[in-house]
Amino acid sequence: MTTDDLIEVEQVFTHAFSVEEASAIYQIIRASISNNTPDSRLCLGYEKQTNIVGAIAFTSVVFEPDEDLTGYILAPLAVHSDYQQQGIGTKLIEFGLAHLIAQGVDVLLVYGDPEYYGRFGFDVELGRHFRPPYTLEYELGWQAKQLGTLDLGDRIYPFRCVDELSDPSFW
Ligand SMILES: CC(C)(COP(=O)(O)OP(=O)(O)OC[C@H]1O[C@@H](n2cnc3c(N)ncnc32)[C@H](O)[C@@H]1OP(=O)(O)O)[C@@H](O)C(=O)NCCC(=O)NCCS
Repeated sequence: MTTDDLIEVEQVFTHAFSVEEASAIYQIIRASISNNTPDSRLCLGYEKQTNIVGAIAFTSVVFEPDEDLTGYILAPLAVHSDYQQQGIGTKLIEFGLAHLIAQGVDVLLVYGDPEYYGRFGFDVELGRHFRPPYTLEYELGWQAKQLGTLDLGDRIYPFRCVDELSDPSFW
């Protein structure tokens, strides 16, 4: 997606989240789309009859001091309420997963409902290996999915994320 898509993307978020949440969450994907760089951000839209009805962003995280470990975080994801339950969220996640796997990314992180993300292999236990930069309000929503075969051992990996997610209120 490009900044030309922002008006449609905002509509998706307005029709997916509550009034209180929509604006703040849209600002995250707006910043990701505006700063889209192939090595740190992947922003995808799902089109139906030339209108964007679903949107997702994946942004890179930096593990410190484990520069060899590569990871992304999935945030945010939204499907317009008129188009939910049609497999669009699934397609956006699966397309992103395939792209990141092809790039050789080791791990994908997510902060959301385990009942939904568990369908895609995200796991709360695995999430405990990765320490978010801020205190989590909803610890059970913190999950990870391994994309490669790297042995994580017993270690905990702290990381930092892109500017648009570097806000304690998001976590
Ligand atoms: C969550 C969301 C992205 C799913 O998109 P979608 O296109 O409707 O999802 P899909 O059609 O691919 O999958 C639908 C399935 O997921 C399930 N599902 C949707 N949201 C769920 C949730 N929060 N918890 C558990 N299951 C959920 C549906 O019940 C449905 O199950 P079924 O296949 O057994 O009928 C969409 O509902 C949405 O935008 N919700 C509001 C914003 C939001 O919560 N975003 C995620 C932030 S973490």
